[in-house]
Amino acid sequence: MSKYHIITYGCQMNEHDSENIAGMLEALGYIQEEDPYKADLVIMNTCSVRDNADKRFFGVLGQFKKLKKNNPDFMLCVCGCMPQQPRIVEEINMRFSWVDIVFGTQNIAKLPELLELRKTTGKKQRAIVDNNPDITEDEMHPVRMHRHKALVNITFGCNNFCTYCIVPYTRGREKSRMMSEIVCEVERLVSDGVKEVMLLGQNVDSYRDALGNSFADLIHAVNEVEGLERIRFMTSHPKDISDEMIDCFRTCDKLCRNIHLPVQSGSDRVLRRMNRHYDSKSYLEIVDKLRSVAPDITISTDVIVGFPGESEEDFEQTLDMARKVRYDSAFTFIYSPREGTPAAKFEDQIPDDVCHDRFNRLVELMDGISYEKNLKYKDTTVEVMVDGVSKTSDNTFSGRTDGFKLVNFTSDKNEEDIVGRIVKVRIDDTKTFSLEGHEL
Ligand code: SAH
Ligand code: SF4
Ligand code: F3S
Repeated sequence: MSKYHIITYGCQMNEHDSENIAGMLEALGYIQEEDPYKADLVIMNTCSVRDNADKRFFGVLGQFKKLKKNNPDFMLCVCGCMPQQPRIVEEINMRFSWVDIVFGTQNIAKLPELLELRKTTGKKQRAIVDNNPDITEDEMHPVRMHRHKALVNITFGCNNFCTYCIVPYTRGREKSRMMSEIVCEVERLVSDGVKEVMLLGQNVDSYRDALGNSFADLIHAVNEVEGLERIRFMTSHPKDISDEMIDCFRTCDKLCRNIHLPVQSGSDRVLRRMNRHYDSKSYLEIVDKLRSVAPDITISTDVIVGFPGESEEDFEQTLDMARKVRYDSAFTFIYSPREGTPAAKFEDQIPDDVCHDRFNRLVELMDGISYEKNLKYKDTTVEVMVDGVSKTSDNTFSGRTDGFKLVNFTSDKNEEDIVGRIVKVRIDDTKTFSLEGHEL
């Protein structure tokens, strides 16, 4: 029997694509292999959002060349966001021509056919398409990473063209799945034992299906699915978030009180140049509305430092935004120019040392706030959906609160009896990125 191994980089979209790829391979009779160097087929599902992702990919790819030499039957396949850019496919063809199959984000379902063609014709396969209008999810049978929680695509692609971002070029134009199909999928998942779903889209707030259903309508419909316990979603865009959506935090009992609301910058000038279509004032108004509807809601964000033209004053406005919102957690990135995006051509690029200095100052502030926010959980009891057992100790488990706080806790229970269940945990200690406690 042939063995496969998938290496996944990037966001949840890629994680879910990898689950679908695993599903197709297992339907063809492949079995999963933990060690990539023992597999007959390695799939590299790539990300291109920042430059270090590119570099890492080519480094790892180089390491597989030896395997190919030692075992002519070994196959390597590259997919995901990198090959959606012609320069990357050219580079693969020039420097890594031994790669067997390359396909993109828009034609994942083609993998079985490409494998067959590679075997029967002996020819390397290259199959990249842009903006596939027929992209769908409905016939997929993913092999899911977790039994108790599942990723569910609600939209594909992105139409926002933030000036720094490669995603609209690698994932094509935005398409919403039908609400009825999404609800059917969630029902199927629940009958399979799933307790929590994460609704996925690059901008969930612009979801609108062919019947006119909005994201708020979708949350209400998913909230009705019997047996489902938790609903999460990712990612919100401040320009499109609606009052109806915000109200779901009050009216939908399964919707977790947590939101990831990328701000990117606190400076209106920078936000305009990023093409984000909101300003710091309207962003803060959304935060106020969220907190008035759900006072205990946790908020996380993404920030880019060193965007072209960012002055010290602009950066201080970002620090100011962090102090005003007091985020529970934040992902901070140094701006990385992406070929083909408008911002890569802006002339006022920021020197590396300035970027690093700002990055360190922002991380210090954000981490301090996270630490302080977590302190208030000490000696409280929280409900935790258990994700798994710790690698180092059999009686330490980890999971997430409704507000997505990571909790590590001890329990006498067995792994099989506790994973996927919601348990009560007493918090004894708090850290910057986690809460520590014991099961009650
Ligand atoms: N669709 C989501 C996430 C997109 S990528 C959204 O709109 O928020 C995830 C994060 O990567 C972005 O929020 C942004 O902060 C960061 N990012 C995207 N392109 C980048 C670039 N060129 N350089 C640095 N960070 C980038
Ligand atoms: Fe990129 Fe902006 Fe689309 Fe997010 S909304 S994927 S940052 S273009
Ligand atoms: Fe990366 Fe593509 Fe996701 S570029 S962040 S894997 S959409």
